[in-house]
Amino acid sequence: MSRKSVWIWLPGATEPTMAGRFSLGGYPGRPLGEFQYGEAYLAHSGRISLDQRQLLRFKGTARTTDYGGLFDIFRDVRPEGFGLDMLYRRRAVTSMSDLDVLEYSAGDAVGALEVCDDIQAKMDFVPESSQTMFGVMEELEPSQSNAHIATRLERLPSTSLGGERPKITVLHKGQLWIAKFAGSKDDPSSPLREYLCMTLAAMAGIDAAQVEFVQRRGRGAVLVKRFDRWIDAAGKCRRMHFASGATMLGAATASRDAPGRTYLSLAGNALRWGVAGHMAELWRRMAFNVLVGNGDDHPRNHGFLRREGGWQLSPAYDIAPYTPHGGQALEVKALSMGLLRNGDAGANADNLLLAARQFGIGYGEANDYLDNAYQLIHEKWGGLAKDAGETPLAPPLFKLPVRPERMPEPVWQKTRR
Ligand SMILES: Nc1ncnc2c1ncn2[C@@H]1O[C@H](COP(=O)(O)OP(=O)(O)OP(=O)(O)O)[C@@H](O)[C@H]1O
Ligand SMILES: [Mg+2]
Repeated sequence: MSRKSVWIWLPGATEPTMAGRFSLGGYPGRPLGEFQYGEAYLAHSGRISLDQRQLLRFKGTARTTDYGGLFDIFRDVRPEGFGLDMLYRRRAVTSMSDLDVLEYSAGDAVGALEVCDDIQAKMDFVPESSQTMFGVMEELEPSQSNAHIATRLERLPSTSLGGERPKITVLHKGQLWIAKFAGSKDDPSSPLREYLCMTLAAMAGIDAAQVEFVQRRGRGAVLVKRFDRWIDAAGKCRRMHFASGATMLGAATASRDAPGRTYLSLAGNALRWGVAGHMAELWRRMAFNVLVGNGDDHPRNHGFLRREGGWQLSPAYDIAPYTPHGGQALEVKALSMGLLRNGDAGANADNLLLAARQFGIGYGEANDYLDNAYQLIHEKWGGLAKDAGETPLAPPLFKLPVRPERMPEPVWQKTRR
């Protein structure tokens, strides 16, 4: 049985508090994770539950045998994809236990939680400045992959952020940002595409993380401002606890092809976690994903923040249509999560309009949103790229049909029960 401490930066705190102890045991093929809140934490006036499902109760021992014995909220801070590869490379290994990954990964994990013994090592994480990173971008030969940007920064242990694309946390304009680069399977234009989508999402009324686009020697990066950490006036880094949509759905429901992996389940679970006022915003995000052809809207690409008053939807992130080498965007037939209660993920206007009702949005309002957002995307797509100093890319492929002919309003009345 191995044990780790679990730390949290409580709302408003500049230092971490030990919340409890996590142990991982069981026997081969049947891991068992156990968590108990600590006595001092239980006596803390500002204590919060680490989640609203597996670790909701302060008393007793929480247990899980799912997914290697890791509680879902701990999986959110465990690096994967690019960050995990980089950690392996740095430590010259080909695999590590989950607990070692949590211990040795960089202190830039999403949110305000760390599962480790050496909390000081996490607190000592100092991001590189964006200027240093730009310097590396200038030095690299065009043939060198984007992963080199991270490996050239010797001080950088890795990144604990999830996701497949090369990324690092940088200090930019006095705050923390994520610099994201095209992955090995992506067209080099993918950071520009992400920048365009995120910028347009904000213009289309979505609460999207702030983005900038930079390019050095033909190599593009999108900078995404971190919404879970900020440097306060005294220069201290504040953190906000985060749960992914996968955690909110529960890992089993969040898995690919699970029938409950829908926007409506996510919205319903969020309600149970105390989230309010998120229904229309989630529908807009779903609609926007259809309009720009982002079919990679999996549950880890949605998030929630534990603010002072409770859980809320985080700003939107990772809105980007997958574009393989060659730069030809692919038509997206289905989103990664169901648009309708029955799991139908078809990326089309009919489903969006049917879903609107389930999300409490009027038919006229939903139609207007689709028209306006579609027009905005197509009007601004080229100009925004030019303003960023880039050659315009082909606009998203999705064509918005003339809906009144396809689905007159009475269809809703027929489905209303
Ligand atoms: N602005 C942000 N602030 C804080 N955390 C963020 C932000 N954007 C993303 N994250 C966290 O970092 C993770 C990775 O980011 P992102 O999803 O953008 O990367 P990616 O490599 O494109 O992912 P994927 O493999 O899904 O395509 C997210 O799952 C989320 O936990
Ligand atoms: Mg992602």
